[in-house]
Amino acid sequence: MSDGASGRYQAAYDRSLSDPEGFWLDAARDIDWINPPRRALDDANPPFYRWFPDARLNTCFNALDRHVIGGRADQTALIYDSPVTDTRATFTYAELLDLVGRAAGILQNLGVEKGDRVVIYLPMIPEAVISMLACARIGAVHSVVFGGFAPAELAARIDDARPKVVITASCGVERSRVVPYKPLVDDAIRQARHRPEYVVVVQRPQAEADMGERDIDWASAMRPGTVAPAGCVPVAATDPLYILYTSGTTGHPKGIVRDNGGHAVALRWSMTNVFGLQPGEVWFTASDVGWVVGHSYIVYAPLLTGCTTVLYEGKPVGTPDASAFWRVVESYGAAAMFTAPTAFRAIKKEDPDGTLLAGRDLSRLRSLFLAGERLDPDTWQWATDRLGVPVVDNWWQTETGWPIAANLVGLQQMPIKPGSATMPVPGYDVQVLDDQGRPAEAGQEGAVCVRLPLPPGTLTTLWGDDERYRASYLSAFEGYYLSGDGGYRDDDGYVFVMGRTDDVINVAGHRLSTGALEAAIAEHPAVAECAVIGVADPVKGQVPRGLVVLKSTGDAAQVDEQVVREELLDLVRRQVGAIASLQRVDVVVALPKTRSGKILRRTMRQVADGESPATPSTIEDPSVLDDLAEVLRS
Ligand code: COA
Ligand code: AMP
Repeated sequence: MSDGASGRYQAAYDRSLSDPEGFWLDAARDIDWINPPRRALDDANPPFYRWFPDARLNTCFNALDRHVIGGRADQTALIYDSPVTDTRATFTYAELLDLVGRAAGILQNLGVEKGDRVVIYLPMIPEAVISMLACARIGAVHSVVFGGFAPAELAARIDDARPKVVITASCGVERSRVVPYKPLVDDAIRQARHRPEYVVVVQRPQAEADMGERDIDWASAMRPGTVAPAGCVPVAATDPLYILYTSGTTGHPKGIVRDNGGHAVALRWSMTNVFGLQPGEVWFTASDVGWVVGHSYIVYAPLLTGCTTVLYEGKPVGTPDASAFWRVVESYGAAAMFTAPTAFRAIKKEDPDGTLLAGRDLSRLRSLFLAGERLDPDTWQWATDRLGVPVVDNWWQTETGWPIAANLVGLQQMPIKPGSATMPVPGYDVQVLDDQGRPAEAGQEGAVCVRLPLPPGTLTTLWGDDERYRASYLSAFEGYYLSGDGGYRDDDGYVFVMGRTDDVINVAGHRLSTGALEAAIAEHPAVAECAVIGVADPVKGQVPRGLVVLKSTGDAAQVDEQVVREELLDLVRRQVGAIASLQRVDVVVALPKTRSGKILRRTMRQVADGESPATPSTIEDPSVLDDLAEVLRS
């Protein structure tokens, strides 16, 4: 081990594994409980584990009320900064509590009770944060769906979560266009089998929505005096706080279930120990509340810690230019910022020399955290040279809700190795396993796994589907959680995560399932079979590419290939959403397969990325791959 892995970090890490009870009960002291935990881990029913089984709390109380009671009433809790609508607003802890109490009252008046689900389909506006906390306040389970998803994806989530209420806005505002959201919600509800009883609509001036019978106008319902604010409903630490859907290898999304108690303890601990933030400091995460980074590090962790959090409705570039992040950091005196590497690649492309940093006062910024996809050493170097602060890679997933591996600047900053997310975070027993489930040697790539139990704050199961949870994550290697990422640890124990080993792709820090894209393409009547692969892209990290074989008989055989290609791009945009970023589909004669019929997506991706993979021994017809090489490399 290098010096970097000794000292405070190593002591905390060792204790988290040798004495998880003591470690997490100590961390739990930073949360206000209705019934404080006497035990940390309930391991009576492996491989299902629960944290703080005898405790009760309210997450919203911990994010708002206790700070108001404790002297932060007038401190800014939330800054809304929206270059796309030219708006800025601030909310103190007292103001945010008032709004959340009223929003929670509206939900209660609509019949939402503890355990009921509420789907939130909102752009990056304060009402998104208010809605999430309002659900937490009354023990309802929120499920935020990212606004870039199309109605069919929203419908799939509505059918799985079965919400009583959907909260939406009339529109989102993108860089160059206004996206009406309400018609998408109406369409999704038409497509879904489950019928939510009410849709609460935030009307935005950029495009007002037509209202129907089940629709409730947010502003009217929120008018002071119209609704009595709701109090905090006590919940068990093990009760669900939210469901967040993420892409698996099939088209059917997985509903990650997060509990209340473990989540509050882990996020509060992470904010100080991983990220080094203290109560009262300003924290800026540029992501979207529709993703896990937004849930954890725009909303819950900073507010649980008593920080000021920035909600930014804009892009790193084009709103209006590549200095947008520097403006936000400077204006609000952010102590740290968090985003995805793709955002920095976009900035670097627009302003390679960092000229737009000139004259900006970023002196309060102590660190930049990047996660959501692999941080390539070039981007790390560029950001480090331009900002002059530690640029900290951290690796995690929707499933875990907080970092699995990081450089824990709050506990002990370790030397940075570009390309590595540094060391396992306390609580995570990270092991790299070979095909046989044996620990890999240092430097040898394998499946990055975490020995069970996972720490507090991580998924407890998949919504309504314990069996899929077990099959997807726990069945490959007994006693281990399978992350789905491949990677290795070096001689110093540093964790290097190299990429997914399954059919999940990562486009601009957004996780997509090739299965979902293929399902959309397969709906086209002219398509006989198809494959979607993620190929390297200089800004977005990966972008999807489609390969289709057309039917050779019947009406479909008469179609114009160019027309089909355009129809397929449109189909994916309509079925999955613009966020899929599918720009290219090639019509090919055949797809390479194994003798058992499995399409060789990984091999095609390697060819497209300019690698020279060994032809798999199981391939049915090697000439198919040879014939495709030219198309893939073009
Ligand atoms: N609602 C509706 N549409 C949305 C949307 C939303 N919330 N978010 C994105 N879209 C649309 C975009 O308008 C775009 O549509 P277009 O094809 O008509 O232009 C499409 O989805 C693709 O969006 P995106 O992948 O964001 O590409 P982009 O070219 O607009 O921006 C980046 C590229 C790199 C600047 C952008 O992806 C970014 O800022 N990423 C930051 C990383 C991030 O937030 N990661 C989240 C996890 S940490
Ligand atoms: P999501 O669940 O959308 O957050 O995506 C999680 C996936 O993103 C992981 O399984 C990784 O493949 C990838 N990922 C996230 N952070 C990193 C990182 N720091 N380094 C490498 N890959 C990452």
